[in-house]
Amino acid sequence: MRSYLLVLALLAVTICSTEAVLKRRKHRRLRTTTTTEPAMLAAARLFPPAAGAARGDEAEHLELGMAERLDETRFQESERARVNEIMNEVGDENNGGNEVFMEDPCLKVHCSAGRVCEIDEHGDAVCNCIKDCPYETDSRRKVCTHHNETWPSDCDVYRQRCLCLDNSELCRGPQYHHVQIEYYGACREMPECLESEMSDFPRRMRDWLFNIMRDMAERRELSPHYLHMEREAEANLTRRWTNAAIWKWCDLDAHDNDRFVSRHELFPIRAPLMSLEHCIAPFLDRCDEDDDHRITLAEWGKCLELDEYELEDRCDELTDEAA
Ligand SMILES: *[C@@H]1O[C@H](CO)[C@@H](O)[C@H](O)[C@H]1NC(C)=O
Ligand SMILES: *[C@@H]1O[C@H](CO)[C@@H](O)[C@H](O)[C@H]1NC(C)=O
Repeated sequence: MRSYLLVLALLAVTICSTEAVLKRRKHRRLRTTTTTEPAMLAAARLFPPAAGAARGDEAEHLELGMAERLDETRFQESERARVNEIMNEVGDENNGGNEVFMEDPCLKVHCSAGRVCEIDEHGDAVCNCIKDCPYETDSRRKVCTHHNETWPSDCDVYRQRCLCLDNSELCRGPQYHHVQIEYYGACREMPECLESEMSDFPRRMRDWLFNIMRDMAERRELSPHYLHMEREAEANLTRRWTNAAIWKWCDLDAHDNDRFVSRHELFPIRAPLMSLEHCIAPFLDRCDEDDDHRITLAEWGKCLELDEYELEDRCDELTDEAA
């Protein structure tokens, strides 16, 4: 009788843990498609303070939120690895060892923002609009759209755009077909960027670019080509700002490698910084000197107050081929 109970108890535990795995998997899929780019949010924390100024409470509050998002992404990654391992083990057992386990078709699919991979009735992977975004109570997750409308999270904005593109009745109106995130944090009145603040801004921007480049080198997130440029910047002070500026410009352009950084391509530096640095928008506007909505390397160097002759196109050729 006792051993019977023991078996029953074991069975219950097994069922519960399998269910937990499945639940986690669902959770995992949902969270990973909310497309918060961790490096870009972490980078906002590396922005050097203005000369003689301390960060206000609000800035700290936002920075904490960004750090949390970063932690969450790391958590998701480790969680995914763990679940895959478990699934592999289960698969191995079922197949008596060496056979490949039944593969989840969604593992190979990367859905765009606001979408989640689901398996349809034919067993194929399809990218559907996220059903429910995680309910956010934390004000630090809020985002401001280009309509100056505050949304609870980036997930909610991307989901809404997805619903409109798929002609769902949940689409709130035609103006949401192209809804965009303007910046992270709730919408607010942007203070005017004073001339005194603007005059210090190129220096802070240069420092920031180098800080991110160094941070990424330390975390081994740079390609060998850019790692070489980072070493050069460390060793030769005259190359410090130029190499960082060239790298960031190439990095932003890596979307399409057309040797222009479009307004759209500026998103990764603009959106996370807006709430913290109200001068970023006017600064970037100034960079586009001829107002053709794209920034050349020469324009980029000029607005960072770098010597134009030191700036040569040294983009990683590897990204060229990949694009
Ligand atoms: C955007 O919304 C915020 C908060 O509601 C408001 O303070 C600000 O003035 C608005 N900005 C613009 C440009 O309308
Ligand atoms: C540092 O970089 C500058 C500019 O590219 C170059 O002229 C100079 O020779 C370099 N110095 C050393 C020590 O490599």
